[in-house]
Amino acid sequence: MKHPPHIALLQRILGYIETKTFEMEERESAVPVARYTDEACHRGEVESLFRRHPIAIAHAGQIPEPGGCLAHDLLGVPLFLVRDEGGTLRAFLNVCRHRGNRLVDTAADGKACRMKSLVCRYHNWTYALDGALRHVPLQEEAFPNLDRAARGLVALPVEVRHGLVWVVPDPRGTIDLDAHLAGIGVDLDVFGMNEQVFYQQRATRVRTNWKLIIDGFLEGYHIRRLHSATVAPFFTDGLAAGDRVGRNLRFAVARREIAEIIGQPEDTWDDRRHVSFAYFLFPNTIMVFHPDYTSHLGMFPQGTDETVFVHTMVIPCAPRTEEEDRHWQRSFELIEGGVFQKEDLRTAEAIQAGLRSGANEALTLGRVEYPIRWFHAILDEAMGEADRE
Ligand code: FES
Ligand SMILES: [Fe+2]
Repeated sequence: MKHPPHIALLQRILGYIETKTFEMEERESAVPVARYTDEACHRGEVESLFRRHPIAIAHAGQIPEPGGCLAHDLLGVPLFLVRDEGGTLRAFLNVCRHRGNRLVDTAADGKACRMKSLVCRYHNWTYALDGALRHVPLQEEAFPNLDRAARGLVALPVEVRHGLVWVVPDPRGTIDLDAHLAGIGVDLDVFGMNEQVFYQQRATRVRTNWKLIIDGFLEGYHIRRLHSATVAPFFTDGLAAGDRVGRNLRFAVARREIAEIIGQPEDTWDDRRHVSFAYFLFPNTIMVFHPDYTSHLGMFPQGTDETVFVHTMVIPCAPRTEEEDRHWQRSFELIEGGVFQKEDLRTAEAIQAGLRSGANEALTLGRVEYPIRWFHAILDEAMGEADRE
């Protein structure tokens, strides 16, 4: 392990083991319940967080070939990604420039469909893969004044970096990933995100607020309890360390194997064996780096009480045998079905169902749950900045 921020996190964890303490804030805090139930808050978040910042909506490997198209409908505007003839990945509003019909259908499992050109089914206006309007049936008669050059598809800011496709879902927006990932993008390279391959994706609708799901991925306090029947045996209790890096968060959560490195030199530390790393990438992404694969989780709010949870599994290399494929399939089902769905998401739904009961005006955060406070402070800061602009 050579990434200095990772070494520093492990050193802190070893320090806590030695002093028999935990990474904590000075005092408890709280999140008002209204943050998860208020309609105006939801609308403000969509506008201020989800329309103006880069969001990682796919893996480059989901669209490997020229002509690959992938629709995305979770950011409030219909959009799609397409790899053009030259291999460049582009993003467009999924809206025909004639009378607005949809162009690309949504695919199950996040797999791209292949197109030679983009033909609108309604009247067959036809666009090239770079968005240019190429053909209009009966153009001379029906549209003698049409300027085809001005009726290309509407492009969205998009960039591929660290193996992920980042989009700003506003055609007037700009994308600045250097600023967005400052100080943390290098971590994604350390994990080899560029070389890893897309394995599988599942999207599910969950009856909860998107922030409750993220809250649950930001503290290790529940691991030994909620996950007692699944992943708890792999982890220590509450031993973790975290950094705030701009609007992003980096964590190391100690695994059982952490005991092996007490008193051992740093060059014997194996980053993904002794701890699991988890990241929050502003505004809606969680990356969990398990010992042998990565879970990329995207939380997409569809209402105060509804979120689409998109889980993408990324693995070191494509399966070479059926046996390898079965191995990854089992891993995916265990973490997606057994842990995320049955435990984390079901709990987030249960919390949401009780929020309006009046039992709590605020959700209490213990001193070890400080990353949840960080997350909400980051959102407040970004919302405040949007209000000022
Ligand atoms: S709406 Fe697309 S061709 Fe008419
Ligand atoms: Fe969990």
